[in-house]
Amino acid sequence: MDVTVREVPGPDGIAAARTLPAAWYSNAAHFETEIQRVWRHQWLCVGDETDMPSAGAWRAIVAGGLPVLLIRDKEGALRAFLNVCRHRAAPLCEPGDDGSGSLLSCPYHAWLYRLDGSLARAHGVGEPDGFDTADFSLKPLGLATWRRWVFLHADHGAEAPEFGPMAAAITGYPVEAMHLVLSESHERPFNWKVLLENYSENYHTPFVHPEIDTSSSHDYPMLAEGLTLYAWDRPLRPTTDAGVLMATLLPGEPGWEALGSAPTTVPYDVGSYLALRI
Ligand code: FES
Repeated sequence: MDVTVREVPGPDGIAAARTLPAAWYSNAAHFETEIQRVWRHQWLCVGDETDMPSAGAWRAIVAGGLPVLLIRDKEGALRAFLNVCRHRAAPLCEPGDDGSGSLLSCPYHAWLYRLDGSLARAHGVGEPDGFDTADFSLKPLGLATWRRWVFLHADHGAEAPEFGPMAAAITGYPVEAMHLVLSESHERPFNWKVLLENYSENYHTPFVHPEIDTSSSHDYPMLAEGLTLYAWDRPLRPTTDAGVLMATLLPGEPGWEALGSAPTTVPYDVGSYLALRI
């Protein structure tokens, strides 16, 4: 997979820059094109290991418009399938539903699936000629784990994701030892590219986020790999303390003092953040 490194454009880049056509932000047909040509061809970060179902559990999510069933089998292997029954295409679970057990039952006609996606029983079908339950397993999706993050791809056969300079940028940080202390989810009434563009510049910061000290200019480095974005306004503070915090913190907030005692080689006066999904 190619790695694209985006940098703040110089004067020539700014002179040539134009906003995308307005219709690309509001036209439903164009959005569907983006889903098919962009989102269905990229690895999508869907959370980290601490978000994933525990052994023997499953959860239904939607990723890039796809209904997805995340399942962790009894041996601890994480799998992803289309959340679509192979009989008449009913969803096995509603998005957001979760559960646990050794079998999943389709709510429509009660076909039963094992946690490896194979069809265990087609209720009432028996064994007619030409019907083999092995032909009706759930459709698998691509799934990969990098450091602590889990990625999905619509194509089960997709090449494993590579993170190039993004991987190098956080090599020294013990992200696996960090604890998630804050998780927020927002639904916004605008096209996804608006958010991406917002995170691609620091121009708005003094006006929209006046609480952030921008008096000492600093770089706003950004790496993009497919639809995964890695950006930070200060280097994430490395520490050997297992109580590391991932959330953006401001002085005086819970956890700030613990960060203050962590070893660091860089100025760290406001906060840091790491964005791995858009
Ligand atoms: S659609 Fe699932 S059993 Fe019929």
